[in-house]
Amino acid sequence: MAAIPKAELHVHIEGTLEPAMVFDLAERNHIDLPYDSVAELEAKYRFTDLQSFLDIYYENMAVLRTRQDFHDLAAAYLRTCPEQGVRHAEIFFDPQAHLKRGVSIDTVITGLCDAIDEYRDQVSASLILCFLRDDTAESAMATLLAAEPYLDRIIGVGLDSAEVGHPPSKFAEVFQRAREKGLKVVAHAGEEGPPEYVREALDVLGAQRIDHGIRALDDPKLVARLRREQIPLTVCPLSNVRLGVFGDIREHTLPRMLDEGLLVTVNSDDPAYFGGNVEANVAAIREHLGVTEKQLRALAENSVRASFLDEQTKERLL
Ligand code: HPA
Ligand code: ZN
Repeated sequence: MAAIPKAELHVHIEGTLEPAMVFDLAERNHIDLPYDSVAELEAKYRFTDLQSFLDIYYENMAVLRTRQDFHDLAAAYLRTCPEQGVRHAEIFFDPQAHLKRGVSIDTVITGLCDAIDEYRDQVSASLILCFLRDDTAESAMATLLAAEPYLDRIIGVGLDSAEVGHPPSKFAEVFQRAREKGLKVVAHAGEEGPPEYVREALDVLGAQRIDHGIRALDDPKLVARLRREQIPLTVCPLSNVRLGVFGDIREHTLPRMLDEGLLVTVNSDDPAYFGGNVEANVAAIREHLGVTEKQLRALAENSVRASFLDEQTKERLL
């Protein structure tokens, strides 16, 4: 399976920050950590819901300070792509989480791009700027404006962080501006939030893909629409289990989504926190959900088709 070419469409670069790298960067940047060992840090990775994960995800980011740090973070992820058959990655990053700490958007984007350029022969990669939905619409707009000098290096915008209570419609204006700037649009919706958020992401934000989208299954009319319009869903099975959306991997509804004819892809979300990379997710659904070899091939093909690559490059990868 690792040999089958695929794209990863739902990975937060800050979520690839491995515990060992937290310690390495803390040392390099002279930052005191509230833990004495990798084991002590990892012991905190017992999440009960999305927020309990986000708390530590943002806390760990404090070690990311310089252009070199962002390079090293992205390089460590990109190095793992070829062995997983990941030929193309569309990578989320959370600039607001860094701007808040006094790290400039230039530092973040140039650092990530240094790594993308360095590994371009092994894997193609592009960046998707995510807005934090639990922050204000004004902050999102200010972030988009700050990013505009770098738009040649950013393929699209997304929406992430704490979902419930922060509907997509809150960000109508900033996504409209992003679309006017020619950016692609994706949004996390239906991870913990209701099917209505998936509808808003499509109708108000103009989302071309839905990140997670698993709770769409609660609404048969929405399922019919997602099937009819073949809206790609970037599903992250191990993430859903670690954040308590499903009690056990055997309860995951990915097989039902495939049976419903939805355009599903498999992704890692935050591999350093949720038990592994795309290949670990693929292994889990094969082993515990009875997903067949044929279905795995279809999932890989879906990921390439659902990417923002041009049609010619897609055909070359398939
Ligand atoms: N959901 C929402 N926001 C996030 C996630 C996620 O799984 N990972 C990083 N930010
Ligand atoms: Zn995510």
